[in-house]
Amino acid sequence: MLMLRVNGEDYNVFTEPWKTLVRVLRDDLGLTGVKEGCNTGSCGACTVLIDGKAVKSCLVLASQTKGKEILTIEGLGKNGLHPLQQAFVERFAIQCGFCTPGMILAAKGLLDENPNPTMEDVKLGLSGNLCRCTGYVKIVEAVLVAAEMIRKGA
Ligand code: FES
Ligand code: FES
Repeated sequence: MLMLRVNGEDYNVFTEPWKTLVRVLRDDLGLTGVKEGCNTGSCGACTVLIDGKAVKSCLVLASQTKGKEILTIEGLGKNGLHPLQQAFVERFAIQCGFCTPGMILAAKGLLDENPNPTMEDVKLGLSGNLCRCTGYVKIVEAVLVAAEMIRKGA
């Protein structure tokens, strides 16, 4: 049995020890906001925060996260839209939406470390996350807008 702490709640999960975190979150906990794209660490769709750091959950065994705090997109939006979610909607930074949970969590990891990023900082911070739809301009804009909202206390 595996004990996981996800989005502020404790879970006891009966699962295979070789399963990756993305598979356990999706298959065993039903948290399908986390997406599985390449499964090789290349696309970033599976990004979650582990102890505040953006991590590609297809590269981590769920059993390696024991005692750590995991945040998925479901947890980020638990008490209403987070400024990043709001800015992504308002700035049209979402098309098909497949990359969006990973993008937003990667952006959250970035803004928690650097609340006042430049455009280059955002581009660099999101460089491990691929989007096949938007062309990235709107995504980068949305992150900068969200950073400003957070700085102003949103
Ligand atoms: S599914 Fe994890 S990086 Fe693509
Ligand atoms: S919005 Fe479709 S992959 Fe990014």
